[in-house]
Amino acid sequence: MSLLATQDLTIRFGGHVAVDNVTCAFAPGTLTAIVGPNGAGKTTYFNLISGQLKASSGAVTLDGRDLSGRSPSERTRAGLGRAFQLTNLFPRLTVLENVRLAVQASRAGKHRRGLNLWSIWSDHGELLARARQVLQEVAMQAKADELVANLPHGDQRKLEVALLMALESRVFMFDEPTAGMNVAEVPVILDLIRKLKSDPTKTILLVEHKMDVVRELADRIIVLHNGALVADGEPAEVIASPIVQEAYLGVSAQAALLEDGTPPPPPPTPPPGGGGGGGKQKKLKTKPGQPKNGG
Ligand SMILES: Nc1ncnc2c1ncn2[C@@H]1O[C@H](COP(=O)(O)OP(=O)(O)OP(=O)(O)O)[C@@H](O)[C@H]1O
Ligand SMILES: [Mg+2]
Repeated sequence: MSLLATQDLTIRFGGHVAVDNVTCAFAPGTLTAIVGPNGAGKTTYFNLISGQLKASSGAVTLDGRDLSGRSPSERTRAGLGRAFQLTNLFPRLTVLENVRLAVQASRAGKHRRGLNLWSIWSDHGELLARARQVLQEVAMQAKADELVANLPHGDQRKLEVALLMALESRVFMFDEPTAGMNVAEVPVILDLIRKLKSDPTKTILLVEHKMDVVRELADRIIVLHNGALVADGEPAEVIASPIVQEAYLGVSAQAALLEDGTPPPPPPTPPPGGGGGGGKQKKLKTKPGQPKNGG
């Protein structure tokens, strides 16, 4: 069964086709990494799925239901979760209150019982219990009573994931989740993504330039270039493909092997009398360069 799908999804900005007829399906229990050079259309693809942008043509479906005409909030309610919008958080409320509101939003309309004070009171307890449970899942129970505005950046991002969990999102979209994080925060957020990935009901889409992260987390990689889907397959296969190595990541295939743990070939003999810094090991880049054929 396929949960999320896009069919011939396209958006044009003037004459520029930023996402070009992308047809792709994403199954629950899988993490798909979306890679490609800067400007390839990755963020725009997310914006089309989440509804922040309206497609010029094509469709976004969830369990076969066409969401193309739906607003971003309707899509959120349908189960599409976009992480790290930061606008999702209420900075002047506590961590627990934020999560509680998300739990409440996910239940809105599900069992409306009219204005019954007892049911409001008992629902309140139930919502708080669920909120605390979600905080526990993201290991933030100790921060429950802190104001969100006072949280470090990494905790705010974690909290955003908690909100998506509280909303009972089925699809989690992460656009460069580790960008702007300090070294201590990166493993925390990656652990959280890893944890989500172990849930067979969740579909995860990850835009990430760091290929070591992609290699570790992805079940599948798709490659966008100039808005079009140009590769789709097993991570090792896609990473090793000349199309990705040469054109899209702008590094040699040999450099990719170095991060795989394969011993690098012996360095070239330095020219006599010089070349102090010449032997620097090339890594798969954090941010790939512009595509060689330009824009
Ligand atoms: N609202 C917009 N109006 C006009 N052009 C846009 C708009 N949004 C995106 N674009 C263009 O669409 C193309 C794709 O941009 P997008 O941000 O999706 O790339 P990306 O793959 O996410 O790149 P990066 O890796 O740098 O984040 C770019 O050429 C960009 O300038
Ligand atoms: Mg982007």
